[in-house]
Amino acid sequence: MERHEIDELVNELTLEEKMGMIHGQGIFHTGGVKRLDILPLWMSDGPMGVRRELEDDNWNPRGTTDDFVSYLPSNTALACTWSRRQAEQMGRVLGSEARGRGKDVILAPGINIIRTPLCGRNFEYMSEDPYLTAQMAVPLIKGIQENDTAACVKHFAVNNQETNRLTVSVEVSERALREIYLPGFEAAVKEGRSMTIMGAYNKLRGEFCCHNPYLLREILRKEWDFDGVVISDWGAVHNTSEAALGGLDIEMSVTNDFDDYFMADPLRKKVLENEVDEEIINEKVRHILILMNRLSMLGDERKNRIPGVYNTSAHREAILSCAEEAVVLLKNEEERLPIILEGKKRLAVIGENAAVLHAPGGGSAGIKALYEISPLMGLKIEAGGNVAVEYEPGVGAEGLIKATALAGECEDVIVFIGLNHELDVEGQDRKDMKLPAGQEELISAVLNVNKNAVIAVLAGSPVELEAFADRAKAIVYTSYNGMEGGRALARVLLGNVNPSGKLPFTLTRCLEDCPAHKLGEFPGDETVVYGEGVFVGYRYFESENVKVRYCFGHGLSYAEYVYENLKVEKTCQGFLVKTDVSNCGNRAGLETVQVYVRAVGKNIKRPAMELRGFDKISLEPGEKRTLAFCLTEKDFSYYNEELKCYVVPEDEYEICVGSSVSDIRLRQWIEVDECVLEAEKFDGLETDSFS
Ligand code: BGC
Repeated sequence: MERHEIDELVNELTLEEKMGMIHGQGIFHTGGVKRLDILPLWMSDGPMGVRRELEDDNWNPRGTTDDFVSYLPSNTALACTWSRRQAEQMGRVLGSEARGRGKDVILAPGINIIRTPLCGRNFEYMSEDPYLTAQMAVPLIKGIQENDTAACVKHFAVNNQETNRLTVSVEVSERALREIYLPGFEAAVKEGRSMTIMGAYNKLRGEFCCHNPYLLREILRKEWDFDGVVISDWGAVHNTSEAALGGLDIEMSVTNDFDDYFMADPLRKKVLENEVDEEIINEKVRHILILMNRLSMLGDERKNRIPGVYNTSAHREAILSCAEEAVVLLKNEEERLPIILEGKKRLAVIGENAAVLHAPGGGSAGIKALYEISPLMGLKIEAGGNVAVEYEPGVGAEGLIKATALAGECEDVIVFIGLNHELDVEGQDRKDMKLPAGQEELISAVLNVNKNAVIAVLAGSPVELEAFADRAKAIVYTSYNGMEGGRALARVLLGNVNPSGKLPFTLTRCLEDCPAHKLGEFPGDETVVYGEGVFVGYRYFESENVKVRYCFGHGLSYAEYVYENLKVEKTCQGFLVKTDVSNCGNRAGLETVQVYVRAVGKNIKRPAMELRGFDKISLEPGEKRTLAFCLTEKDFSYYNEELKCYVVPEDEYEICVGSSVSDIRLRQWIEVDECVLEAEKFDGLETDSFS
């Protein structure tokens, strides 16, 4: 449909019909217009797969047997892959499954910055770093939308905690907003071309995000040229005129008094009483019709709409491949890993997290999974019937005794510990960073009888590892890793897969070291002040030389990679950074090469290190490859609040290339000219941004 046809369609609609399109008329859909063959818009959670079917007017599950789905690695797990290719693949799977289930909008991905280890929804988000977040979000969104399903990137913006999430006001500097909290959303809109975006529950500087003209009109529409649909989080609207005028397009909520929603009858009344101009309603309906047009939901195009499919073996294969790349090897002294089972008779598995199924938990992201392979099942599948895989959960005093006895008898022992969705959950934050439920005691008891026991940490958020990190010889980390997560982990532990995951966040020694807790506030009360500014995650640890347990970007391999030959050339676009990386180990593997810019901060206080490029490459034993990265002026800039734009200040800059933020292998000082970067007006990737 052409733009003018959309305008004509808007003109044909009555006020009543238009009102029905801009608010929920069921818990997960808007109203359609039969007379003009306009369909309702069907939405569904979420980031780890398509949510089960709920009743139309309440939150009870329908309880049917046709809504089991593929369960994808959580966003933290996906971010551990540092693979744009895997992100795109997972997007394709998610988009196809959503379409296959008849959905138009999938309420994913969640891309808020991991500001504190305690946030209950960290597992739904990606990273403490805006660049990594953006680089993963863009291909993920593109993959989703290839399937005529709209992504709904969430929660816009600064929804970095669950405590008081419905009321808290975030006080954050403009610089931190621009450098840390918005770049993921900006990339999602400008490069990923996300068709929809979800306004967050919380307030930004005193104003609810779903009513916030600065976020929704100024930044999203004007600066970023967004012509898609802004959907409220469920129940995030509090005022009719503010929401209608602030830039929200669709109000969704949690109750079934659909006609009484702020943007239903109350708004219609205001239009009829000339308090709100009908053009405001037309604007919203136009955005919705543009979205429907993009999704081939209008007119004759409907017959060409991609049908999608769910629960295919191809989806499960893709999910396994992603899950394998999401396992992070944190430590491997004396090459304890992989465990080679050849000729062995027994394998001891200890800890509740070996057997717990996580898919259904976490809140709105919970999944009714077709299946979920636990680590214990994964190990049994991979080990085969000739090895006795013996399991002790090790819970409680009696359980501890049994687990210790087993660990003492067996040569090979793996202890599965971490969190579950009682703690990694929507609506509440954790109280501390410690491992819960006596797990530190369990690990210590096991290590006392078997110093070679391997520790597998399964958690969606950073946890404190101090109780055992020095003592244990081998530690792996994985987040909620999808339906094939247990098999993926087993394949890494037993050596069928060479690990290649890297941490998307820092594992600090303790909570008190985290900048949100040390310099800023958490969780605040009515307001929360982000006093740490741009010094979030490794930006703080690197700048202040705070010792951490495992740094951002860290992840080992069973192979070894050598970095050499760094060359930085000045080009008309900026700098071309070239480096050689080779595999000097004896097995093939994948390495993520990371490029950071270090600014000394002579005049302006800058984070010591900032990730500005990365690439994940595969290398056969002995193979050498040359990688090239382009850095532009923007990569050396900071956001200047007075000039309201990015500026490259006079400073000393170093390009750092390495395997993690603190494992820098090559570095070179360069001279960068001072400059002011004009606020770029995004002119779109396609000539016709409309169709
Ligand atoms: C969550 C959203 C979710 C929505 C619909 C809200 O409580 O914050 O992420 O998409 O519910 O279930």
